[in-house]
Amino acid sequence: MKKRIPAVFPAFFVLLWISPFGRGQISGSPHDFSGSSWNGSGEICVVCHTPHNSDTAAAGAPLWNHRVTTATFTLYSSRTLVVQPEQPRGVTRLCLSCHDGTVALDSFGGMTGNTFISGDANLGTNLSDDHPVSIKWKHQNRNPARQLPNCFNCHKRGGWRPITSELPFFDGYVECATCHDPHNGTSGYGHLLRKTLAGSRLCLHCHRK
Ligand code: HEC
Ligand code: HEC
Ligand code: HEC
Ligand code: HEC
Ligand code: HEC
Repeated sequence: MKKRIPAVFPAFFVLLWISPFGRGQISGSPHDFSGSSWNGSGEICVVCHTPHNSDTAAAGAPLWNHRVTTATFTLYSSRTLVVQPEQPRGVTRLCLSCHDGTVALDSFGGMTGNTFISGDANLGTNLSDDHPVSIKWKHQNRNPARQLPNCFNCHKRGGWRPITSELPFFDGYVECATCHDPHNGTSGYGHLLRKTLAGSRLCLHCHRK
């Protein structure tokens, strides 16, 4: 039996390497536009980022290279909402710079393009039918009827400093990139999600139901 272990070990590591649950990457993901007809550069990052002369219009934009949407959005509202969402800010505005359908995909690097996003990926400027974004996290489920989820989903035992690695808040806000990682197409969770929908674990991170 002992003799067989060395043969099994390399196979195990090969499996890890090709496993969809390994470290994700953008290459080959829905956000890899290196082969898209509208992207003449053949590059991946340049559609969204540039090392120089980046656009600093949106707060916290990471070396941004894509034209930023100037649309005004219809926001989610409901009778039971405790905190009201704000007009898309920071990273959400960056996502909507392709996903609201008002700015062409190929409007990057100072160019004005003419290819627009289509299908379900086009959220439009009406966000009233979408999960609220640019909404401040204030433990707003903290009332008897709508209890908070497990504190340790976000906080370390022995301290309230939140762990931000799994579902990050931006400036204390829930944004598109809280649930989605724009780079991580191979997490295995689908839809560029940061956490699995199996058992609704993504949702139960923040909601207790
Ligand atoms: C479709 C747009 C898009 C593409 C393509 C893209 N990014 Fe990003 N990137 C974003 C957005 C949006 C953010 C901010 C949200 C966040 O931090 O998750 C970001 C944040 C970052 C950050 C800072 C935060 C972090 O995650 O470390 C780095 C570094 C980065 N990108 C590098 C890259 C590189 C390198 C490439 C190419 C291999 C790339 N990105 C391709 C949209 C993109
Ligand atoms: C440069 C334009 C651009 C930016 C910026 C951008 N996206 Fe996308 N995104 C696209 C396109 C194009 C698709 C592919 C749509 C399709 O397949 O028809 C897409 C696909 C997606 C998908 C669907 C993936 C799937 O497998 O169903 C998600 C989720 C997504 N984007 C989220 C985001 C989020 C969140 C951000 C910001 C953090 C963002 N995108 C920023 C252009 C962009
Ligand atoms: C979905 C994630 C999440 C959950 C669940 C959560 N928190 Fe928080 N908590 C945060 C964030 C984000 C902050 C803001 C920290 C900041 O501003 O730096 C915070 C801040 C706090 C603070 C203030 C810490 C400080 O330094 O000012 C306390 C206290 C706290 N949370 C207690 C709790 C308790 C008790 C629970 C469980 C009943 C809980 N939290 C559940 C995300 C969460
Ligand atoms: C609270 C978590 C959460 C937030 C915040 C969020 N999404 Fe999603 N998104 C999801 C989940 C879960 C799915 C997959 C289930 C589905 O298709 O409805 C999804 C699916 C998508 C898809 C794929 C749609 C399709 O049918 O192909 C796109 C594109 C997308 N999201 C973009 C965004 C953008 C842009 C934002 C910010 C304006 C955003 N998401 C904010 C959780 C979220
Ligand atoms: C990162 C934390 C986070 C995640 C993950 C998350 N939510 Fe939320 N969700 C919120 C916050 C914050 C609100 C606003 C609550 C308020 O202010 O009353 C909200 C609001 C909602 C509302 C509207 C409540 C109302 O009173 O109108 C529903 C429904 C909801 N979320 C469902 C989901 C579902 C389903 C998922 C998983 C796909 C999910 N959420 C994932 C944080 C989160």
